[in-house]
Amino acid sequence: MAALTHASRACLRATSSSSTAAPVRALSTTAVRNDNATTWTSYSSPFKAGTSKANNVPDFGKYVSSASPGKNKLFQYFMVGGMGAITAAGAKSTVQEFLVNMSASADVLAMAKVEVDLNTIPEGKNVIIKWRGKPVFIRHRTQDEIAEANKVNVQSLRDPQNDDDRVQKPEWLVMLGVCTHLGCVPIGEAGDYGGWFCPCHGSHYDISGRIRKGPAPLNLEVPAYDFPEDGKLVIG
Ligand code: FES
Repeated sequence: MAALTHASRACLRATSSSSTAAPVRALSTTAVRNDNATTWTSYSSPFKAGTSKANNVPDFGKYVSSASPGKNKLFQYFMVGGMGAITAAGAKSTVQEFLVNMSASADVLAMAKVEVDLNTIPEGKNVIIKWRGKPVFIRHRTQDEIAEANKVNVQSLRDPQNDDDRVQKPEWLVMLGVCTHLGCVPIGEAGDYGGWFCPCHGSHYDISGRIRKGPAPLNLEVPAYDFPEDGKLVIG
């Protein structure tokens, strides 16, 4: 029995000695792995921070002005102000040229107003002038013609209008020579009413240019005009 006990103790001792050997082997394995990790961390990467030239800040020291900050600011203000003035002048010139090109030319402006010497038109005669591409009738009316224009019953007219409302001076009748029907040019001193007659469709106008007969719906139009002085008429 004592022998068995001794044997079992020897066996337990051997087992315990073998169980302590395993951790030693495990520790040695860990050590091997650590050795490998040390090998990897010693690898030199080309992207490693601090070694790339891209991260280097260049030295601009040689470009720094040697003048005082106040002098530099003055120069900056001068440059900004100068460029602003040049830009403003360019913009003004561009806008000005655009407006000049868009406005009416000299010949068009000259046609906008027409001056007529009334001394050259004898009493009882018609004159036709061209204004803005349209004919204008100027009639130097006689006293009989003025009286005839005023004796008409205005309410009986297709386009009721007093003679006084169509003239500034009774002796001078000024109106556009364009028929109000379809735009033909009526003939002077013709028609049933001693005024104008449109041969296109037979419209008759009286000595005040009012429509009296035919298809035209309205009286002949009176343009804007003025007498700036005696013997002078300005149309437009
Ligand atoms: S255009 Fe004058 S009557 Fe027709």
